[in-house]
Amino acid sequence: MSRDAERSGAGPSTWEATADLVVVGSGVAGLTAALAAQRAGLRVVVVTKDAPDEGSTRWAQGGIAVVLGDVTGDSVEAHLADTLAAGGGLVDAGAARAILAAGPAAVAGLRAEGAVFDAVSDGRAARLARTREGGHSALRVVHAGGDATGAEVQRALLGATSRAALTVLAGHAATVVLTGSDGAVRGLEVRDGDGRAGRLAAPAVLLATGGVGGLYETTTNPAVATADGWALALHAGAVLADVEFVQFHPTALYTGAATHGRAPLVTEALRGEGAVLRDTAGASVTAGVHPLGDLAPRDVVAAAITRRIAQLGAEHVWLDATGVPDVVTRFPTVAASCAAIGVDLARDPVPVRPAAHYSCGGVVTDTHGRTGVTGLWAAGEVARTGLHGANRLASNSLLEGLVTGRRAAKDVAAALAGPRALGRLDASAPRPVAVADRAVLQAAMTRGAGIGRDAAGLAAASDAIEAASTLIVPSTRSQAEDAALTLAAHALLAAAGSRTETRGCHVRTDHAVTDDHWQRASSTVVLDGDGRLHVGITDARHGGAA
Ligand code: SIN
Repeated sequence: MSRDAERSGAGPSTWEATADLVVVGSGVAGLTAALAAQRAGLRVVVVTKDAPDEGSTRWAQGGIAVVLGDVTGDSVEAHLADTLAAGGGLVDAGAARAILAAGPAAVAGLRAEGAVFDAVSDGRAARLARTREGGHSALRVVHAGGDATGAEVQRALLGATSRAALTVLAGHAATVVLTGSDGAVRGLEVRDGDGRAGRLAAPAVLLATGGVGGLYETTTNPAVATADGWALALHAGAVLADVEFVQFHPTALYTGAATHGRAPLVTEALRGEGAVLRDTAGASVTAGVHPLGDLAPRDVVAAAITRRIAQLGAEHVWLDATGVPDVVTRFPTVAASCAAIGVDLARDPVPVRPAAHYSCGGVVTDTHGRTGVTGLWAAGEVARTGLHGANRLASNSLLEGLVTGRRAAKDVAAALAGPRALGRLDASAPRPVAVADRAVLQAAMTRGAGIGRDAAGLAAASDAIEAASTLIVPSTRSQAEDAALTLAAHALLAAAGSRTETRGCHVRTDHAVTDDHWQRASSTVVLDGDGRLHVGITDARHGGAA
């Protein structure tokens, strides 16, 4: 099998179509990019494996961190300083400054699409309301519907999608980024719900597939977050970086010991408005841990809760929001999740514990979404721009998706502006890949690659996943997801094993201190032509980008 054939997909297709740009994913980054690209004159197809609003965007609560210039004392430099502090030394300051500075225009663009944010009246003028979250030195997080910011973003972008008559291919899983013998992108193979293959021939593919929460038993992510973009990118020849940095949200709602799947988020903005964390013995969880206490960066709070739960042999800690003014009307989404388990947010403490939430690393891109593979872009959670480093600052992610989605669209349009030849799509033999049993994989990752990892646990997780794997050619959505999870798990475990220190979200119990040797070092992961993963180290300012 030639390298070209190996990378070119699996078996005959039932249909073929063409586009200039195929966007995989319909959350904030994907739809922002698709809308901008269509406006730039490109023929765009959005592919999404489920319904268009099934991704992580709609579950985001807290808001969008952005400096709009109307908060006294705040500035992009202050936002950058908070981002750098949260990111544990691995933030690419140049990339972060560019993304944060582009925030106001991106938010204005979103409002122009119809998004409505909460406002307050300041004397004569109305302005956007702000809240605060962990690690922020200022009130700079804009929000919508109280704690339903993501839902409003998704609603507005889907409204714009339908007004723009953008083509959305729902219910189709992306299975292979098709490449030619020159390594450049030729299109995308997709599978419908019955496993039938189709092909979209295109010189540009943009991955906006979201996160990797499905690697763990409990996550704040919806079920569609199965690391698809990592796998698609690796198979296409792209580089991943910083994938060991999986952020655990400190306060997912604890609904019982056997919870598997999506745990409702209890937004950090509650602590921004005065809610406090207490352990089951009634003591503060973060006193003495960090000067910002309960509003310390997320990695610090999540690790403190994890330690306290272990010390007390408890299942959770308490978040007491009873002192937050108008808490039920200000946080209706959280109030409804609490009510569903019989907790009154206004009167009762809320049982919470950390859950897998966000991937700080991912496919290496510049701030225009460009990967090292010709014709392949990535934006949003799937991408690693350098904004998050070792730990993402709260509410920087919707902002990043908006900014890099717009920038990627412009970059694709510029790249496709000249004359170009669209290469042939080769029909080729399918390639078998390792596919692990999902329940075994999630249990292994939860045990071995959560907050508090060590070499033995990481190796045991890898062994357990390997033992539960078979070699198959994925031909259904769930097989493609399981294949992606299997590859992603091995990538994460390998990167986590190589980083012999504790930094940000990566907490090693056998290397419990932060090591200066790793201060500027990003781990990278690539897949070779024989399907083997290779971990390397590169300067974090470049993340391996070409
Ligand atoms: C939250 O509202 O606590 C989550 C926001 C985020 O993940 O940035």
